Amino acid sequence: MEIFDAVEVIAAKRDRRELSDAQIDWAVAAYTAGQIAAEQMSALAMAILLNGFNRRETARWTRAMIASGRRLDFSALGRVAVDKHSTGGVGDKITLVVAPLLAACGLAVPQLSGRGLGHTGGTLDKLEAVKGWRADLSAEELAAQLERVGAAVCAAGPGLVPADRKLYALRDVTGTVESIPLIASSIMSKKIAGGAAHLVLDVKCGSGAFMKTPERAAELAGLMVELGLDAGVGTAALVTDMSTPLGRTVGNALEVREAVAVLAGGGPADVRELTLTLAEELATAAGRAHADPAAALADGRAMDSWRAMIAAQGGDWSAPLPQARWSEVITAPATGFLTRLDALAVGVAAWRLGAGRARQDDPVEAGAGVELHAQVGDRVTAGQPLATLWTDTPERFGAAQAALTGDAIQTAPAPPPPRPLILSRIGS
Ligand code: URA
Repeated sequence: MEIFDAVEVIAAKRDRRELSDAQIDWAVAAYTAGQIAAEQMSALAMAILLNGFNRRETARWTRAMIASGRRLDFSALGRVAVDKHSTGGVGDKITLVVAPLLAACGLAVPQLSGRGLGHTGGTLDKLEAVKGWRADLSAEELAAQLERVGAAVCAAGPGLVPADRKLYALRDVTGTVESIPLIASSIMSKKIAGGAAHLVLDVKCGSGAFMKTPERAAELAGLMVELGLDAGVGTAALVTDMSTPLGRTVGNALEVREAVAVLAGGGPADVRELTLTLAEELATAAGRAHADPAAALADGRAMDSWRAMIAAQGGDWSAPLPQARWSEVITAPATGFLTRLDALAVGVAAWRLGAGRARQDDPVEAGAGVELHAQVGDRVTAGQPLATLWTDTPERFGAAQAALTGDAIQTAPAPPPPRPLILSRIGS
C-alpha cells in the first residue's frame, strides 16, 4: 500500500481537494493500525465534516472501512440472509419483532446490534431484560442458529469493521459525528460487512433522531442506499417519523413486553405498521413475499420464532420480565387534544430513570423507563394519567420529570394535523 504524509492528506481536505483512492485506503488502514495519531484523524474528520466527500470518496472510505476487518458470508446457508437497520429512535423495538417475523417467513436474519448510549436504547440492552439471555455468540454459533432458528440478535464482535469502532469513538468526542458521509460510511460498512444479501434501512427523522429534518434524513438515506447497491447488497430505505416515541413504552423490559404483544397479534398500531412495512420490504426483496408477514404475525408463527430465538441464546421467554419497584404518574396539563409528546424529552426521561447509560460501561436498569397512556392526536382530560415513570432508584424521578416539563407535552383545543409515520421510501 502506498504511504502518505498524514499532514498532506489533512491539508488536502482542509483545502477542499478530493482525496484519491490510495490516500483514503492509507488513511483508514494507518489509523486502524495506530500509525496515524488520534489528533491527526480528528483534524481529518473535522475537515471531512466541513468540506464533505463526493460520492466516490464516500464509497472508497466505506470500502476501506470494510477492509479493516472481516466480511461475514451467509451465502452457504439454506436461507437468504436479510438485515434491518434503524438509525436509532425512542421506543424503537422493531428489531425485536422483525427478526423473528422474517425468520418465520423462511429468511435468515443476523442482527448484529449494539448497546444504547444516551437517549436512544440499544437492542442488546432490551433483550438482556429477558432472564438468562446472552448477547455474545461465536461466528459458528451464529451460523448454526441462523440455519436452525432463522434469527439471531447478537453483539457485533471486535472483528467487524475495527476501523469504525475506533473512528466512531473519536468522532463522538471531537464534534464530528454529524457528517452525512461519515455517518453513512460508518453505518453501511458495518451493515455490508454483516453479510446480508438484502438490507432495509429505517432512517429516523425528528426530535428524537440523529437527523432532525426530512431533507437531511432523505439525504442520508439516499447515500446509504447507493453505498449498499455499490457493494452488491439489495438496499432500500424508509424515512420515518421520530418526533414522538414509537409505541407506548420506552425502556428495556417495557419495550420487550410491547414487542411480545405485537408478536401475539396485538400491540400499538404504529409499531405494527412499521414492523409489517419493513418486513414486507425484505420478504419481497428476498423473494419470500408469499410467506406473508402479516399472516405470520396473526397465526402465531412469528411468536414461535421469537421463543426459539430467545431460547437458543439461553433466555427464558416464559419468565416474568423485570418490573421497576417505584412509579410516578404524569398527568395531562389541560383538557383538549394531545398535540405534542416530544420524542427527545421522553427518551431523556427514560434515560434519566435508569433505562440508558451516559458512559459506555454504565449498567442499565432493566425495569426503568416510561409507559405512555396516550399518543399524539388522542383526546385527553386535565388530570388524566398521560405517562407512568418507572425506576428502581426513586432519587431519579426529579430529573426525569424535569425532562418532561416546558413544551415537551402540549395540548390544544383542536386535533393536530395527522402526521404519517412513514414519510418517504428510497430504493428500487
Ligand atoms: N450510527 C453509527 O453506527 N455511526 C454513525 O456515525 C452514526 C450513527
